[in-house]
Amino acid sequence: MASPCNVAVLISGNGSNLQALIDASSESNYRVAAVISNNPEAYGLQRAAAASIPTVTINHRDFTDRVSFDRALIAALENLHPDLIVLAGFMRILSAEFVQHFAHRIVNIHPSLLPRYPGTNTHQRAIDAGDSEHGASVHFVTEELDGGPVIAHAVVAIQPGDTAATLQQRVHAEEHKIYPQVVSLFASGRLRMRDGKAWLDSDELPANGIRLE
Ligand code: GAR
Repeated sequence: MASPCNVAVLISGNGSNLQALIDASSESNYRVAAVISNNPEAYGLQRAAAASIPTVTINHRDFTDRVSFDRALIAALENLHPDLIVLAGFMRILSAEFVQHFAHRIVNIHPSLLPRYPGTNTHQRAIDAGDSEHGASVHFVTEELDGGPVIAHAVVAIQPGDTAATLQQRVHAEEHKIYPQVVSLFASGRLRMRDGKAWLDSDELPANGIRLE
């Protein structure tokens, strides 16, 4: 892979993970080459502009169905030639066509210890279940929603009295630490998806991925 690794980040909102990726990139082996948002109001677009990173907005509301929106996304990404597509709070479900087009080159961050709590409302669900631990996962994206092989977990202890909001804050702080580390591992060529699994160097990663801090 040409160095540094070109990363396209897809966002829908605040973009604090995008910010963490931008901040870490100056000392790392990847560069955030472009930011794409499906939401014209996403604050992350301002973060990208402040860092002089090109942005593209593809508003899903301009499309009648998911497949045509995803085709527009594919076309925009093809122009950018990314080595890796990083979903950072991108709140659209991607079609099978999109995932197959960029197979093995898409990662996502999710606010739970996958495979627990795919989908939404993860912090409240972890509290309601009486879990002692919660956290965030980075995983390769497959056609199954939040179901691709886990690359890394960051674990947060659930404290008595935690609310979804307090827990979310601590999980977010962990996300900001682990996502740049995972992108950097991919950029170095050490991390790959093969045979439906995540691999680090010559080791197949366990179901919980690596535990990063
Ligand atoms: C993050 O907590 C991320 O894990 C979550 O959205 C938030 C985006 O925050 N992603 C998902 O729920 C995807 N299923 P940010 O915009 O500040 O990075």
